[in-house]
Amino acid sequence: MRVSEQDFVGRDVITVSDFRREEILFLLDTAARFENETGTPLAGRVIAALFFEASTRTRLSFESAVGRLGGTSIGFAEAGASSATKGENLSDTVRVVEGYSDLLLLRHPLEGAARLAAEFVDIPVVNCGDGAHQHPTQTFVDLYTMRRECGRLDGLHVVFCGDLRFGRAVHSLVSVLALFNARVTLVSPSFLRLPAEHRHTLESNGVIYNEAPDLESSLAEADVLYMTRVQRERFTDPLEYERFKDTYTLDLNVLKRASDQLAILHPLPRVNEIAREVDGQSHAAYFRQAHYGVAVRKALLALLLGVAGEVPK
Ligand code: NCD
Repeated sequence: MRVSEQDFVGRDVITVSDFRREEILFLLDTAARFENETGTPLAGRVIAALFFEASTRTRLSFESAVGRLGGTSIGFAEAGASSATKGENLSDTVRVVEGYSDLLLLRHPLEGAARLAAEFVDIPVVNCGDGAHQHPTQTFVDLYTMRRECGRLDGLHVVFCGDLRFGRAVHSLVSVLALFNARVTLVSPSFLRLPAEHRHTLESNGVIYNEAPDLESSLAEADVLYMTRVQRERFTDPLEYERFKDTYTLDLNVLKRASDQLAILHPLPRVNEIAREVDGQSHAAYFRQAHYGVAVRKALLALLLGVAGEVPK
């Protein structure tokens, strides 16, 4: 079925599985159109960013997107700056902010927070990360980056490495790769293995995948390496974090095993899992990936608010 801008207007973005392949491709094409957009289709619109958890890229690339399209952003960057500290619950907060804005961006430590918020308001809610659950806009940025870096999106061999248990960016991306006929390798210590529900999703969608303890031997046939940080904030036992935090380090020595076409992605922030010496390699796509976040989020905002058509094709 043909996709049009109308299909996006007023929608919530809670998980990537709410979107069909054609819709995702439409969003990525719109993002390409928005990369150098200098018009002001968001003039007069107010976007509220309610961030109950730390963020650099997601919040600032959204705010940059709003500013570059002529809109205004309001909000807070930590729970301590909101009335949550006075005991206000999430549903009251979002009901109030609905009256101040046209679209709500929400990051929250609890899984399901965005879905809950969307039940209380009529304006679009965009999940900017809910606990270890989902991070759909990161996935759109990841797919955009893969297509830009690899020249295609179909049939890629994607190696995930690091914290596959708690990483919501991994969980989101894994759940749509079947739409693009990917092959997947999962590299993690068994404690940080991809949860069973996501392995079942891969299986039931017919994705060929394998699990491997070792990064080096997994690189030779990879098109994309998706490196991740061990998610310290999700561990209940700090000693456990210490045990696993430096399990993998991608350095030039490990990278020798990679194919020429390998693109290295990382949602960032990085801790020690990629050595600084890798940054100058043509394989290193993670800073470009962070920058593509603005174009993708510009496109998403314009589509949800029904103003993407104002930008010339
Ligand atoms: C990710 C997140 O918050 O889930 N960061 C991001 O949004 N780019 C990944 C992470 O924090 O490790």
